[in-house]
Amino acid sequence: MLFNKIVSLAAFASLAWAQSITDVLTQNKDNLSALIGLLATQPELLKSIAETKDITILAPNNKAIETLLSTDAGKAAAANPALVKAILQYHVLSGVFPSTAFSSKPAFAASLLTDATYANVTGGQRVKAVAPEGRPKGTVIISSGLLADSNVVVADVKFDGGVIHVIDEVLTIPTAASVTAAAANLTALTGALTTANLVGTVDGLKDVTIFAPSNAAFEAIAATTAGLSVQQLSSILTYHVVAGTVGYSSTLTNTKLKTVNGAELEIKVSGADVFVNQAKVIVADVLIAGGVVHVIDGIGEDEVTDLNSSVLLPSGSGTNTSTPSPNATASATPTPNVVLTSGAGSTMGAVGLGALVGGAALLFNL
Ligand SMILES: *[C@@H]1O[C@H](CO)[C@@H](O)[C@H](O)[C@H]1NC(C)=O
Ligand SMILES: *[C@@H]1O[C@H](CO)[C@@H](O)[C@H](O)[C@H]1NC(C)=O
Ligand SMILES: *[C@@H]1O[C@H](CO)[C@@H](O)[C@H](O)[C@H]1NC(C)=O
Ligand SMILES: *[C@@H]1O[C@H](CO)[C@@H](O)[C@H](O)[C@H]1NC(C)=O
Ligand SMILES: *[C@@H]1O[C@H](CO)[C@@H](O)[C@H](O)[C@H]1NC(C)=O
Ligand SMILES: *[C@@H]1O[C@H](CO)[C@@H](O)[C@H](O)[C@H]1NC(C)=O
Repeated sequence: MLFNKIVSLAAFASLAWAQSITDVLTQNKDNLSALIGLLATQPELLKSIAETKDITILAPNNKAIETLLSTDAGKAAAANPALVKAILQYHVLSGVFPSTAFSSKPAFAASLLTDATYANVTGGQRVKAVAPEGRPKGTVIISSGLLADSNVVVADVKFDGGVIHVIDEVLTIPTAASVTAAAANLTALTGALTTANLVGTVDGLKDVTIFAPSNAAFEAIAATTAGLSVQQLSSILTYHVVAGTVGYSSTLTNTKLKTVNGAELEIKVSGADVFVNQAKVIVADVLIAGGVVHVIDGIGEDEVTDLNSSVLLPSGSGTNTSTPSPNATASATPTPNVVLTSGAGSTMGAVGLGALVGGAALLFNL
């Protein structure tokens, strides 16, 4: 496997010490000529990277870039200078992270990608880095958008601005929450967001943590959600969205987080497991444009009942604890079968966009 191919560049690294990024790339042109070619189309970015100190460059090797460019979406991406720039910026991390800086506990390192067209995470969009226990020295797995994984195949090449790790897949820029949910086949959530007219709102949030109920979680409360108005559905959905805090699995602690709905979620961390109220995180750390999504296995019935009343509290302009007007209820018509299984159309778009901004989207079915 790839891990066998990890090359120790200790001898080379000592020679390369204090060499510029362009020197080091040129010396490794057998593996990095495609990256050099891409950087050459972005002279200003290259100049700025060369002048920046204390960075880590995740350098896709030729195979990685050829794989990307072999797809129509990859070709289209390469023809879009703004997207090429964003992709390259996502491959440069603030801070020097030699491979020994990573462990089995996921690290979330900030990149230079701050352009709001592509990312809404303060300090720069993150990559997730893990050095699995028991693997050879230098083994690091970098996860990016849509749970795409890249392996470090040559670790710890030093240059005067920091360190370079060569990777075998181009990183995927994390996509919008709704696109990610559709790509992940979270059809119930996608459908509910669409019904509640929340797609634009959720996608436009900055520094967000979303606890995304799985399809099974929605199915389990189908009887309860059957009679909900759009407003009530909206309240339940926003109860799963925390704005202003990006809580990655390794940074969440036992705490309460205020949601967009106004009510608080209780977070409990037990070893590697994270619980949100009664629900458990079953897929952690799906990076999105505005932060992170954790897929959870449940929506408590109590929670829905409580929210049903809380949604009608005066904080929602002009509404109160009375029942919703017959018109609101009627116009909602959210029979769970209709509401919670739509979104097939978005899945196609998601896969297209996923491919456009990076490698293959990894679908996970829940
Ligand atoms: C680097 O390129 C050389 C020559 O093409 C190849 O033999 C080698 O396997 C490559 N190494 C890596 C780590 O990709
Ligand atoms: C999404 O999930 C449904 C059922 O949960 C399944 O039938 C469908 O094949 C899945 N779609 C993809 C693209 O994996
Ligand atoms: C970032 O947020 C702005 C403002 O809400 C929005 O217009 C933009 O589309 C967002 N960017 C991404 C990549 O989602
Ligand atoms: C929501 O509240 C209304 C009015 O209080 C009630 O009739 C309805 O049964 C409640 N629905 C759920 C799911 O609790
Ligand atoms: C609450 O709703 C009831 C019934 O629609 C209405 O009579 C009452 O004026 C409302 N109260 C407030 C404070 O809006
Ligand atoms: C409520 O529904 C009734 C009956 O369908 C209709 O006549 C009325 O205009 C509706 N009111 C509003 C505010 O939509």
